[in-house]
Amino acid sequence: MKIISVVGARPNFVKIMPLLEAFSKNNITSLLVHTGQHYDYHMSEAFFKDLDIPAPDVYLGIGSGTHAQQTAKIMIAFEKILLKEKPSLLVVVGDVNSTIACALTAVKLHIPVAHVEAGLRSFDNKMPEEINRLLTDRISDYLFTPSLDANENLEMEGISKEKFFFVGNVMIDTLNKFKPKAAKLKTYKALGLLKENYAILTLHRPENVDDKSYLSDILLSVKEISKHLPVVFPVHPRTGKNIKKFKLEGHLKNSKIQLIKPLGYLDFLNLLMHAKIVLTDSGGIQEETSALDVPCLTLRENTERPITVMKGTNIIVGRDKNRIIEEADKILKGKVKNSKPIQFWDGCSSKRIAKIILEKL
Ligand code: UD1
Repeated sequence: MKIISVVGARPNFVKIMPLLEAFSKNNITSLLVHTGQHYDYHMSEAFFKDLDIPAPDVYLGIGSGTHAQQTAKIMIAFEKILLKEKPSLLVVVGDVNSTIACALTAVKLHIPVAHVEAGLRSFDNKMPEEINRLLTDRISDYLFTPSLDANENLEMEGISKEKFFFVGNVMIDTLNKFKPKAAKLKTYKALGLLKENYAILTLHRPENVDDKSYLSDILLSVKEISKHLPVVFPVHPRTGKNIKKFKLEGHLKNSKIQLIKPLGYLDFLNLLMHAKIVLTDSGGIQEETSALDVPCLTLRENTERPITVMKGTNIIVGRDKNRIIEEADKILKGKVKNSKPIQFWDGCSSKRIAKIILEKL
């Protein structure tokens, strides 16, 4: 048996780490292909270092572009790899352009596809990730779901029950493994912050940061929050470019918002562990804050991860300035939502996946 696993963008690295480890423990031959969708040191290599992921066997070097360009370039380059390597299974994770591009290439060559983090739905087709998720699930042979709501979605879409397996969340495998190491760092101290006395802001969704008025409102609400609580803001390249393009730098001046480069996995985890509030539009951070029992305000109108709202610390606050400030204020006054354990978010999801793959192939 030979497996090819694919990564492309930042959240993929966090999800693939425990899977590669599980394949290796089970003596499964596995190759890692990096599409190069993310290529900046802070968005890619830093994660390989932090998470001890072996260097990719193949680097496609695709880079940025429009959705069609990026997807098409990945498909053309990846097809050559599949034809050469003839794997018995392709493993894709998450919902980025690299996920759908590689799954589609494989399925046309009759190579079975396993999708890890299957079944999540925001029901918002304007999100590029929603299209990637829907299509990848539709053409995959093995769908590994992180929560039971995902199974319900797949069932509703008419996907055969034999194809999907509830295994839990591989991101939590990584979190559990690296928590002790991250706890030893002093990242928050190095940024001049005090334990449980700062907020973190992360923003990168096109629907937030490509829209001047939403981005402006979010930054203004965070500026208001920063009057009561210092805010640290690791800036995603897309967001940094748009703040400049829309001339919104003024919103951040004379405030206690500290702009920093995107952080590696361990430094960011250290910041997360000790934060008072996390404001984000990321999917993975909604899960990590729930697992760490840290309050999370999601700056979106919906989530494909409703389990983090039902069982975790997540509150969907949208992009309305007043609502964001109001919810942050409640947390500052001590009204926090504590998280309950989530089934199979136990650090063993990758082991379950490897076991199923061994049984099925
Ligand atoms: C991608 C994923 C998104 C994921 C996010 C995590 C898609 C459709 N989107 O969004 O689901 O949550 O990654 O970060 O796949 N750029 C750099 N350096 C880099 C990478 C990107 O400067 O290393 C800049 C480029 O200007 C690029 C822009 O960021 O055009 C957007 O990058 P892209 O990979 O298209 O999407 P993300 O917004 O990063």
